[in-house]
Amino acid sequence: MSSVPRSRLWRRLLLGIGSLVVLLLATVGGCVTWTYTSATVSTVGRVDFTEELTVPPLATGTVAADGTRIFELDMRTGRTEFRPGKFTETWGFNGDYLGPTLRARRGERVEVRIRNGLPEDSTVHWHGMHLPAAMDGGPHQMVRAGGEWTPHWTVNQPAATLWYHPHPHGATESHVRRGLAGMFLLDDAIAESLSLPSNYGVDDLPVIVQDVKFNGTALDSSHRIFRNAGFLGDQTMVNGTLAPYREVGDELVRLRMLNASTARIYNFGFADDRSFALIGSDGGLMPRPITMNRLQLSPGERAEIVVRMQPGERTVLRSNELDAGLDFWNQRFSGGDDSFDLLELRAATTLRPSPALPAALAAPSTPDGSDSVQERRFELNLAGINKQPMAMDRIDLTVTRGSAETWVVQNADGMPHNFHVHDVQFRVLTVNDAPPPPELSGPKDTVFVPPNTTVRLAMRFDGPADPNSPYMYHCHLLWHEDQGMMGQFVVVDPGQSAGKPAHHGH
Ligand code: C2O
Ligand code: CU
Ligand code: CU
Repeated sequence: MSSVPRSRLWRRLLLGIGSLVVLLLATVGGCVTWTYTSATVSTVGRVDFTEELTVPPLATGTVAADGTRIFELDMRTGRTEFRPGKFTETWGFNGDYLGPTLRARRGERVEVRIRNGLPEDSTVHWHGMHLPAAMDGGPHQMVRAGGEWTPHWTVNQPAATLWYHPHPHGATESHVRRGLAGMFLLDDAIAESLSLPSNYGVDDLPVIVQDVKFNGTALDSSHRIFRNAGFLGDQTMVNGTLAPYREVGDELVRLRMLNASTARIYNFGFADDRSFALIGSDGGLMPRPITMNRLQLSPGERAEIVVRMQPGERTVLRSNELDAGLDFWNQRFSGGDDSFDLLELRAATTLRPSPALPAALAAPSTPDGSDSVQERRFELNLAGINKQPMAMDRIDLTVTRGSAETWVVQNADGMPHNFHVHDVQFRVLTVNDAPPPPELSGPKDTVFVPPNTTVRLAMRFDGPADPNSPYMYHCHLLWHEDQGMMGQFVVVDPGQSAGKPAHHGH
């Protein structure tokens, strides 16, 4: 019995284990490297712009004898030829994909006749609209498969670029991603008095940006590993058109940008880095045009920009790498390192002259925080806002009709989130205690809140009161919303308390 062979045995064993560990680490390392490098996508320089941009049809509805403007929206399944000869199953309003652009004027009573021809229950929410909670189209106003719903309200807010989309609790991402989204434009006397490009489909174009991924002929819906933002596509569409171009015939072109993607945050600009004027945000016109060359929009946000064209030139609308202070990991896996060529604008050889943009646009319509009667804090976390996941039968907070409040929203999570409040437009008072950048000086209903960021928002709840019908506030990264990053508030008359949401089971 000598101890020499035994220690040799041990040495061999250790060497064997060692090389196995090295092999294992190399494999894991390789996988991590592969996962990391394959997580980024770019279509910059690779888009051929062969398809003419689709412009959603403008629906002005019909006007009834009492002046009510009546729209019809049919939610239906369809097939869309995104790529020549390949048909993809999609959902749409009055068509195969997306929906018509609804348009109404301040002061008008509107009514929308909705028919749900889908195989699933859904809702239609009017994002950015000030309206009674029972008409809001949130998760409490489910429209059964085969059913109908006819909400109505009177438009009473400034001219703006709003939108509509489904909001069924737990399934919003899947319903929007299949194609259920459309714009809702509002007009008013102030906007009409300003010389702004406003010929729909000519010098005033809707730009609905979505990312998409195909799995054969089907729309892919998978969430890839580490992608805790939700679904991220590997190419983009504008108004449902892949590789779109648009011919323009005016010196100034207004683009009404809507980020209708489920999770992707864009950092828009032009390929030649030209500047453009930001004239409107979520809830309407800015106080004055702001010259910039980068514009960040998180899901649900809108912006109206005006770009100047030279005769005969072409320029590409692009989305650049994000510069939002995301950490290394989240930057890569939430799509921050991705870039896309979105839309080519082609100017005619002679252009119609456009009047210069007005120096002043619309006076602020949101409160400045000085008359806020309440300050509330919201901590954003994927596990729930203020650590509570959404519950349909729990009213999280009660606000008094007519009062202004300041909401302090903090992202204490490492992930990107944003914050959307139904029914109101708010003013961003501060970002991390500093005055907001000029692009946040207009009315907003959705704001990007990157990690380690706190925003203070001032808003007024001017009714009507309804203690039993809640409005929502939530993260508009739709998978986060589906996971429960959502809460409910009711507006009550002074002295009244919250009731119980009506039972809405099927
Ligand atoms: Cu655009 Cu609560 O939604
Ligand atoms: Cu909304
Ligand atoms: Cu989120």
